[in-house]
Amino acid sequence: MPSTMTTRVLTGITTSGTPHLGNYAGAIRPSIEASRRPDVDAFYFLADYHALIKCDDPLRVARSRLEIAATWLAAGLDPQRVTFYRQSDIPEIPELCWMLTCVTPKGLMNRAHAYKASVDQNVARQAEPDDGITMGLFSYPVLMAADILMFNAHKVPVGRDQIQHLEMTRDIAQRFNHLYGQGTDFFVLPDVQIDDEVATLPGLDGRKMSKSYDNTIPLFEGGAKGLKSAIMRIVTDSRAPGEPKDAESSHLFTLYRAFATSDESLAFRKELEDGLGWGDAKQRLYERIERDLAPMRDLYADLMAHPSRIEDILQEGARKARAQSAPLIARLREAVGFRAVAGVQAQPSGSVAKSGKKPRFVSFRDDQGQFRFRLLAGNGDELLLSSAFAEPKQAGVLMKALPGMDLSVALVSDGAGGYQVRDGDAVVATVVCSDPDEVRQTLAELAG
Ligand code: TRP
Repeated sequence: MPSTMTTRVLTGITTSGTPHLGNYAGAIRPSIEASRRPDVDAFYFLADYHALIKCDDPLRVARSRLEIAATWLAAGLDPQRVTFYRQSDIPEIPELCWMLTCVTPKGLMNRAHAYKASVDQNVARQAEPDDGITMGLFSYPVLMAADILMFNAHKVPVGRDQIQHLEMTRDIAQRFNHLYGQGTDFFVLPDVQIDDEVATLPGLDGRKMSKSYDNTIPLFEGGAKGLKSAIMRIVTDSRAPGEPKDAESSHLFTLYRAFATSDESLAFRKELEDGLGWGDAKQRLYERIERDLAPMRDLYADLMAHPSRIEDILQEGARKARAQSAPLIARLREAVGFRAVAGVQAQPSGSVAKSGKKPRFVSFRDDQGQFRFRLLAGNGDELLLSSAFAEPKQAGVLMKALPGMDLSVALVSDGAGGYQVRDGDAVVATVVCSDPDEVRQTLAELAG
C-alpha cells in the first residue's frame, strides 16, 4: 500500500520492438532511477494490448514482450520494489476500458493527434480518410486511460507526443466520476510528467534515434561487436586527425555525454578540441558505453536463456497489480449497475411504491465552483446529472420546472451521450442520464 507520502508513478512500454540505446537512455534508465526514490511507488507495465494496434505479427509481439521484460530487469529494475506486470495479465483493464469507452464522447477521440495524422496522410494521398484505420487505433486513448485510472496513478512520465492522451484521460475520469461517483470520486486525475533533463539521443545520422529512421544503435542485440560496429558508422564531419573538433556540434559527443560523468565529458571535449581523430573518438565512445552495458548484457543473456524466470516475475507482478485492480473493478461494476440479481430484487430502483423512499433532487457545487443538481431514485441511484450553472438560482429554477414539463417531447438526445431539455425549440439545459425513460417516469411521480 502506498503511504500518503508516496507518489504513484505509472508508465507503459508498448511491446512492438527491440529496445535500442535511445530507449535505454531516454526511458529505461530514468524510470529505473525514479523507482528507487523512497517517495515513489512505481507501476511499470508491458503494454501488450497496445502492441496489437501497431503489429499483427504474433511472433514479433511474443518476442518483444520477452526482450523488453528482460531488458528492464537486466537494466536494474527491482521487481520487489516496482509493480512490474504485463497489461494482458490484468483482465480488469479491458473491462474498465469498456466502461470508459461508454462515457467517452466520440468527438473527443476524433481530435486525437495520432488518429488525425493518419487521416491527414490518407487525404494527402487521395485515399478514403479512414483507410486502414482500425478501431484499435481510433480508441487507443481510452485504453491508455484505463491503464492509468485502473491504478490511480498520480504521475505519468511520457514523451511529449503523449500529453494529449493524459488530457483525455483526465477528461474521461471526470466524466466517469460525475456520472457514477455520487460524491465519491473513483478516479484520481493524473498529471503528465515531461522530463526535460532526460537525454534524447541522436542516431547514427544525427536525427533523433528512432526505429522509424533506421538509425539506431542496438542496446544488447549483436553483443559488444554489434555495439562497436554501429558506433563506427556514426556520421561525423570530415576533419582529419590533428584538426580541432567542435564537441558541441558533434553527435558523438552528445552520445558520450549521455553516459559519462561531467568530468569524463570535460576530458573528452578537451581531447576533441586538441585534435583527437574521429576513429579514436569512436573507440573512446564505444569503451565508455560498453563499460555500462557489459554487465547488463550478461544479465540479459542469462534471463533470455531462462524465460521461465521472467514469466515468474511477471506473474508475481500481475498478482500485486490485481490486488489493486480487482477490488476497484468490483466497486465500478456495482456503480454501473452490474449487481447481483438478488440485490436488485431486494432494492428495486425508481419507484416510490417499491423502494419506500421518495425520489429527490440534490443540488451541489462541483469542483469548478459551479452549481449542479442530481435526480436520485428512491434507492439513491443517480438518474440524472444537470449541466453546470454559474448561479444557484438557475439550477433551482430548472429543478422546480422539470417535474411539470412534458418530458416525452422535452428531453432530447444530443447524439453524444447527453440530453437536452427543451422548451419549444429553446434548449434550456443539458443533462446526463443513462435511462431517459426512467427519468420521465420518476419526474412524473414527483409531479403527481
Ligand atoms: N502509449 C504509450 C506510448 O506509446 C504507451 C502506453 C500505453 C502508456 N499505456 C500507457 C504510457 C499508460 C503511460 C501510461 O508511449
